[in-house]
Amino acid sequence: MIKLPFFNRKRRIELQPSTLNLENIPGHVAIIMDGNGRWAKKRGLPRIAGHKEGMTTVRRIVKAANRIDVKVLTLYAFSKENWKRPQAEVDFLMKLPKEFLTTYLPELIEENVKVQTIGDFEGLPSFTKEAIKEAMEQTKHNDGLILNFALNYGGRYELVHAVQSMMQDISDKKLQMEDIDESCISSYLYTEKLSDPDLIIRTSGEHRLSNFLLWQSAYSELWFTEVLWPDFDELLFEQAVSDFQNRKRRYGGI
Ligand code: FPP
Repeated sequence: MIKLPFFNRKRRIELQPSTLNLENIPGHVAIIMDGNGRWAKKRGLPRIAGHKEGMTTVRRIVKAANRIDVKVLTLYAFSKENWKRPQAEVDFLMKLPKEFLTTYLPELIEENVKVQTIGDFEGLPSFTKEAIKEAMEQTKHNDGLILNFALNYGGRYELVHAVQSMMQDISDKKLQMEDIDESCISSYLYTEKLSDPDLIIRTSGEHRLSNFLLWQSAYSELWFTEVLWPDFDELLFEQAVSDFQNRKRRYGGI
């Protein structure tokens, strides 16, 4: 499929045909979308205004990822630790998946995007689960970009959950201790069917993983920017991919 350049009217960015090496696009890009609160504070707005603006960045970056044929885009939308935030902010964040999918599901379907999630799904409020289930159902046959929301996700929690499931399967004689190796552990994680992230992006100047994809990030390339998530755009996304293309990945070899 030929992807034409597109013009982002609101942000007045005209994207040229990509100068990226299309033979070396990271298959899986994962993003820690940070800085919504600071973006709002700088403008004298409530924190939730930053999250709302961050939602429009999600739309932008989904399009940008799709344009260059990224296969999986994982977005850290709500961590297990985010429940510690004030109740009003948590409530707002829990409503965002529904708002996002209500607004953009037709566009996602048109763009052949498949919606998935990782994380403790059952721990989400029912209205959030319903919106996601509906989007997953309506996009289940799409074979383009996998848009994977990490929701109620924590890397350590994921590992605990995996160990518990493995112990259960050993006790049920479905798994033998001798069969436990790295690929077996990977298959018990929420990301079981996905490749590990090739590139992890974090916005807002913080340089840590914050419990994101701890097992899967063993050989990910990390890319950081000072830019706050609501200001992140297609050009910066392509810059991250371009920098990724200049990295030498050795996986412990020489
Ligand atoms: C971190 O910024 C951001 C979050 C915890 C929420 C991320 C959510 C979005 C970007 C909205 C889009 C979500 C969906 C499901 C479409 P922060 O609030 O910690 O920022 P701060 O460090 O500046 O306070």
